[in-house]
Formats: sequence, structure tokens, C-alpha cells
Amino acid sequence: MKFFIDTANLQQIKEAYDLGVLDGVTTNPSLMAKEGISGEQNVINHYKAICDIVDGDVSAEVISTDFDGMVKEGEQLAALNDKIVVKVPMIKEGVKAIKYFSSKGIKTNCTLVFSAGQALLAAKAGATYVSPFIGRLDDVSTDGLQLIEDIRLIYDNYGYETQILAASVRHAMHIVNCAKIGADVITGPLSAITALLKHPLTDNGLAQFLADHAKAAGK
Ligand code: E4P
Repeated sequence: MKFFIDTANLQQIKEAYDLGVLDGVTTNPSLMAKEGISGEQNVINHYKAICDIVDGDVSAEVISTDFDGMVKEGEQLAALNDKIVVKVPMIKEGVKAIKYFSSKGIKTNCTLVFSAGQALLAAKAGATYVSPFIGRLDDVSTDGLQLIEDIRLIYDNYGYETQILAASVRHAMHIVNCAKIGADVITGPLSAITALLKHPLTDNGLAQFLADHAKAAGK
């Protein structure tokens, strides 16, 4: 299973990379705005800076909502670095753009996916990744993990190679449950990834080992 970090914050990306478990980064316009990144050149420079930190795919989202605009923006983004994955919303023009990018060998991440039917369309259009937003579904009393299960079943039925990128991950158990179901990738905040480290028995056990060692050494 691949771990992507869902942020445009360079410090957090570095921290996750230094942990040695980072496979890529996802961003979106809200995450870029949160870091105060605006203006075409600043956005481009920021994507380049992210690509310089990580070994792996970096999703960069188009702002256009028409086919021509998405193609123009996506081609510019893809030209920045081989790591760039063009993130395209699940709308009619987006599906057409994904098909186009797929025919040109440009990697895509179909975003804002909330149903199995949308995920099926994304796979048929040749998306590299599909991003079902499990946290946002949970927020409206709909089972996000059930959607991951449904997409896994559909993709396995037909051998679709589109990777299931469980997005809008909020906590450690989302990650563990996505792994059980067979999501190919999760993307979440650094806090969800580092929460996987934690167990009180580990902390207590280590404290005891160190105390016993010190006692035996006469300290
Ligand atoms: C990632 O690709 C998505 O944009 C992101 O996971 C959305 O997460 P949120 O629901 O926490 O904003």
C-alpha cells in the first residue's frame, strides 16, 4: 500500500519523507491556499519545490472546468516534472480530459469521487488514480469505507488498473481499514500517518526495558 501525504506544507512533506514511508503527495486548491500560495508562477514554483522533496507522484489539480482549459493547464503541469500527476475533477469535461491525458501518457488523479459509478467512469477513461473521499462521506453519515470496498470489487471484476487512492482520510483507523479492504493508496494528513506509530503498551514496554537496563547497570 502506498502512503501519500495530503498537504502543500513543505515542512510536513519533509517530515513524512524523513520517516521513510512516503510514496507521494496530493494537493488541492484549498491546501495550496492554506499555505498562502497564489499566482500562477508561485503555484508552479511550489509544485517544483514539492517534487524536489519526494520520490513519487505529486498530484497537482487543474482549476479549469472546461476540456480545453483542463488540457492546457494539465499539459503545463505535467511538463514541470515526471512526478506530476494531473488532478482532474469528476465532471463530464473532466472525464473527457482524463481520456485525453491517458492517450498522451500523462498520469491523472480523478478527484471528488463519491460513488462507485463515478469510479467506474474514471477507470474506463483511463485514470491512473481515482480518489474517493471517504472522510467527507463519513461526515454526511455515509460509509466511506463501503465505497472503497465497492470500487475494489468492481475494479477486480474487470481488471481495471486504475489505482484506488483513498482520500479525505482523517485518522489512523481509516488507514488500517483501507489496507484491510485493499485500497492501493491512502492520502491523509501527517497526523494520521504518525498516529499509526502509537500504542501505550509500546511506550510502557520501552520505559520498563530502559529502567531494567539502568537498574542492572547500577545506575
Ligand atoms: C486529496 O486528494 C483530497 O483533495 C483530500 O484528501 C480532501 O481531503 P479533505 O476532505 O480532508 O479536505
